[in-house]
Amino acid sequence: PSIDTIVNLHDFENVARHVIPEKAWAYYSSASDDEITLRENRLAYQRVWFRPRILRDVSQVDWSTTILGHKSSLPVYISATALGKLGHPDGELCLTRAAQNHGVIQMIATLASCSFDEIVDAAKPDQTLFLQLYVNRDREITRKYVQHAEARGVKALFITVDAPQLGRREKDMRMKFVGDEGVAKVQDGQSDIKKDQGVARAISSFIDPSLSWKDIPWFLSITKMPIILKGISTAEDAILAYEAGVQGIVLSNHGGRQLDTARSGIEVLVEVTAALRARGYWPNPNFEIFVDGGVRRASDVLKALALGAKAVGVGRPFLYAFCAYGTEGVEKAIQIFRDEFEMTMRLLGARTIDELVPEMVDASALTSH
Ligand code: FNR
Repeated sequence: PSIDTIVNLHDFENVARHVIPEKAWAYYSSASDDEITLRENRLAYQRVWFRPRILRDVSQVDWSTTILGHKSSLPVYISATALGKLGHPDGELCLTRAAQNHGVIQMIATLASCSFDEIVDAAKPDQTLFLQLYVNRDREITRKYVQHAEARGVKALFITVDAPQLGRREKDMRMKFVGDEGVAKVQDGQSDIKKDQGVARAISSFIDPSLSWKDIPWFLSITKMPIILKGISTAEDAILAYEAGVQGIVLSNHGGRQLDTARSGIEVLVEVTAALRARGYWPNPNFEIFVDGGVRRASDVLKALALGAKAVGVGRPFLYAFCAYGTEGVEKAIQIFRDEFEMTMRLLGARTIDELVPEMVDASALTSH
């Protein structure tokens, strides 16, 4: 169907599932076990209600912000999703081009189908890029990868901490890994491919399950990039992260793909901000809190921001957008967000991101399931 038929982010998913290979659909859409967390990521936002303010002259509204000190036209960044070429021949470059045209920040995946340098080469010199890191058992490979990224101008390192082993994504496992399209270019030497357990298992065997809090000082020592831990799910770990000296955390369950029945990021946000605040750690301009998982509307983003998130990550919608329509699809997704931000901020009575305060939401039902 023509791109003109797309009116919201959900629509990209419906198109993508019909145009991409079955194997790509299985890998992209799957989540772990019974996919309860995957569904909960959407449901949790429905338990947060708005408390809109009126008569505030909302003729001008501005949803631009900064993320880790870098300008972003939206309070949304493109989160890392692996293996873009399973669904589109240009893979992640579609994200890079659209991000460039619209002032959005892309987080490059360690397991991107396009090589790291290919993606950086496609970006404008002043375009902000972040890097998602899966830590290799061979720390020398990781050190070189991180330092190369820094030398090439990447602005932040998001270390994925919720994947000592990949979750069982059964839809994906049923599709035995065959062929290597999209996987061929997976980061040099990072992947040792096992072909009998689905795409996810096939590419992830290099990831080090021994990773621990003791490794954080080493990461801080090998790079000047800010380090953000991606995949925090409790106040306890948010406190440890702050005390370890990292510059931020992503409250995330990996799009429901890791521990099933883990809670949604938006629910975790409430306990995390309360615990950090109680210790005097936050609010703090040097420690930013991000949320991802299930964000499909500007209203979802605004709820997370009102509750204290600096920005939110979006994974599948951008992935499905480029699978369906290439770069143009991602641009359309960004445009949809823009239109939704304008309308929703007006109706909410928030003219700027700073005006999104906790009083604008009623989250009292968020933790009752
Ligand atoms: C992911 N995600 C992910 N995260 C990460 O740290 N490294 C990775 O390689 C991947 N790969 C990946 C592949 C696919 C197909 C999906 C759907 C997701 C997780 C991603 O960064 C993000 O946390 C979630 O996608 C957010 O949830 P939504 O927006 O997809 O609902």
